[in-house]
Amino acid sequence: MTMPINHEEWYQLANRVLPGAGLGGYSLAEEVRFVIKEGHGSKLYDTGGREYIDYVGGAGALILGHAFPSVVDAAVHQSSKGIHFFGTLNEECVLFAEELVEAIPCAEKIAYCTTGSEATFYSMRIARAFSGKDKILKLEGGYHGNHDYSCFSVSPTALSNYPVGQPDTSGMPSVLNETVLIGPYNNLEAIRAIVEANREDLAAIIVEPVQRIIFPDAGFLEGLRALCDEFEILLIFDEVVTGFRLAYGGAQEYFGILPDLAAYGKIIGGGGPVGCVAGKSDIMEQCNPINRGQDNYAYINGTLHGNPVGCAAGRATLAELRKPDFYENLHCHSQKIQSACQDVLDKKGVPARVIGNASLWQIVFMKDDPSDFSAFINADMAKSKEFDMLQMHEGLYVLPNVRRFVSGAHSDADLDQTVDALNRACDAL
Ligand SMILES: Cc1ncc(COP(=O)(O)O)c(C=O)c1O
Repeated sequence: MTMPINHEEWYQLANRVLPGAGLGGYSLAEEVRFVIKEGHGSKLYDTGGREYIDYVGGAGALILGHAFPSVVDAAVHQSSKGIHFFGTLNEECVLFAEELVEAIPCAEKIAYCTTGSEATFYSMRIARAFSGKDKILKLEGGYHGNHDYSCFSVSPTALSNYPVGQPDTSGMPSVLNETVLIGPYNNLEAIRAIVEANREDLAAIIVEPVQRIIFPDAGFLEGLRALCDEFEILLIFDEVVTGFRLAYGGAQEYFGILPDLAAYGKIIGGGGPVGCVAGKSDIMEQCNPINRGQDNYAYINGTLHGNPVGCAAGRATLAELRKPDFYENLHCHSQKIQSACQDVLDKKGVPARVIGNASLWQIVFMKDDPSDFSAFINADMAKSKEFDMLQMHEGLYVLPNVRRFVSGAHSDADLDQTVDALNRACDAL
């Protein structure tokens, strides 16, 4: 094997050994694709020597930016003492579990896993074990990871025939269509009808409190909570993105609603392999290994669960997030970026809008702020994809039609550079 020496050679090698020279979700167009060499703060550097302002932020995991010094130190320090153990508790994972229980409003106990997908998968399994019921209601356009109970109606080409979902991938057993029900986000009336019709079999409703980039209408999350209480169904918040991003206490603190279970990933690992399910003790008791062999035991196990390096990185990350004004500064800077970008679009006469809130934002070609998935079906997604590509070309790392994340590392200088890049992208459009 010879080490590739330039951008093209890296691609030739990747093409030979990775399907589509990608990591699964995306294969970027030839004119913008790149191989990352390293990341520091808000910046990424590729093998061709180009610099990007990173608004992908490790899909939202890197709220402090790349290679944050105390996170790196914590990971290196723990690595020197052991990168991985299995099955038996380690110091880092116990200390981190205590921090997570203190931080997550609905948590009396947490169970570790490795990714956000596992966290939603396990939360559904725990809900089924607890309730003795099979069905899960998820909302159209909501993403809960890569497993077979999540890949329904995440990005359907037309609105679903509620509550029947559309599989997003081949390879899933068709029988699962019967156990995953689909309802519209921000529509309590339609969701109530589905719950009433399935009250005997419904274990839980799972929701992204902020669905992709769509914030909940006033009263929506409260309404879901009340509905779940009325029908004795568990409410699961997927906090994989919102957890420790909207606020230290995640969407639960930001919107003031307590779910029964919550799924976490991304930020809690500081970029490392940590996810968890959090919930009340009686529900979390389903996965107490002492119950193994009993009917209602929910099996949770994985080689990397409680990984000490990930937990150390997570602890160092949370220590930064607890510092005074972290979230206020983050949200304020994000707001500045969003307003400045909207100004550029308006001045250039580009009929797009910046949507978002807190540290999440996106540029879309739609008339009004979206309140459910139908807005995206009606939006000009081809145009926004083309525009996103042009922004990448101008040195912003964004992914096509994906929301962007602001981190604590984004500076005023990054904002100026972003405005310049967007101006050039508008001209090119
Ligand atoms: C809301 C939400 N849930 C779950 C997941 C899956 O997390 P992971 O990619 O770590 O498996 C994601 C990933 O983007 C997500 O955004």
